[in-house]
Amino acid sequence: MRSILVLNPKGGCGKSTFATNIAGYFATQGKRVSLADCDPQQSSRDWLSIRPESAATIKSASVKAGKIDVPRRTEVLIIDTPAALHGQKLANYAKVSQTIIMPMMPSPMDMRAAERFIDELFSLRKLINRKIKVATVANRVREDTIAAAKLENYLDKIKLPTGHKLPFITMLRATQNYIKAAERGLSIFEFAPAKTAYDREQWEPLVRWLNSVRSMPG
Ligand SMILES: Nc1ncnc2c1ncn2[C@@H]1O[C@H](COP(=O)(O)OP(=O)(O)OP(=O)(O)O)[C@@H](O)[C@H]1O
Ligand SMILES: [Mg+2]
Repeated sequence: MRSILVLNPKGGCGKSTFATNIAGYFATQGKRVSLADCDPQQSSRDWLSIRPESAATIKSASVKAGKIDVPRRTEVLIIDTPAALHGQKLANYAKVSQTIIMPMMPSPMDMRAAERFIDELFSLRKLINRKIKVATVANRVREDTIAAAKLENYLDKIKLPTGHKLPFITMLRATQNYIKAAERGLSIFEFAPAKTAYDREQWEPLVRWLNSVRSMPG
């Protein structure tokens, strides 16, 4: 089973947006997808509950006391996490994941917090005990702004404690498309094709990475 964890202790950076859209992507590809919402706010679960019956099926994986109950025959498990997830709780979810996606917004404070978080993640490697793959993605980027350029430059340079580069996969623009699609329980891949063509293009590198061995434990 493919397992993808969406993670960043910073609130509002786009975890649920990535989790639901990745789930939508794999579902439209005909995969048996389950979405686990570990956040008491339940944004992803709410999204699932309003998802139209006509849309590709995504199952809800229930989460109890930090344990995910994965529906049988799941091919792709997406895990959405709450803000401020640290320590043992973080390790519990990372333990069952192959890939971590870390959404970032173009703010200097978020960038510094992210760096500390990467260090924490690596300090937990003994608990996680796997060659889990981590990558960053930028979210809500207003293109051609200084903040966007700074974030891109910064993300391009982040090194892991191992000395390897932390892959930076793609940038998503800030657009109402994500909000409008989410209001209907849909992903960007299932919503207003003409209006979302540019957004799908921005997703292309992430989709490619998730489908490649580069995002799988070595
Ligand atoms: N690229 C984007 N363009 C426009 N709005 C966006 C974008 N990404 C996320 N949003 C909106 O920003 C808000 C926060 O995003 P989201 O809920 O995905 O963040 P989160 O990291 O899950 O937050 P939390 O930490 O509270 O769980 C939501 O209303 C979402 O629709
Ligand atoms: Mg969320």
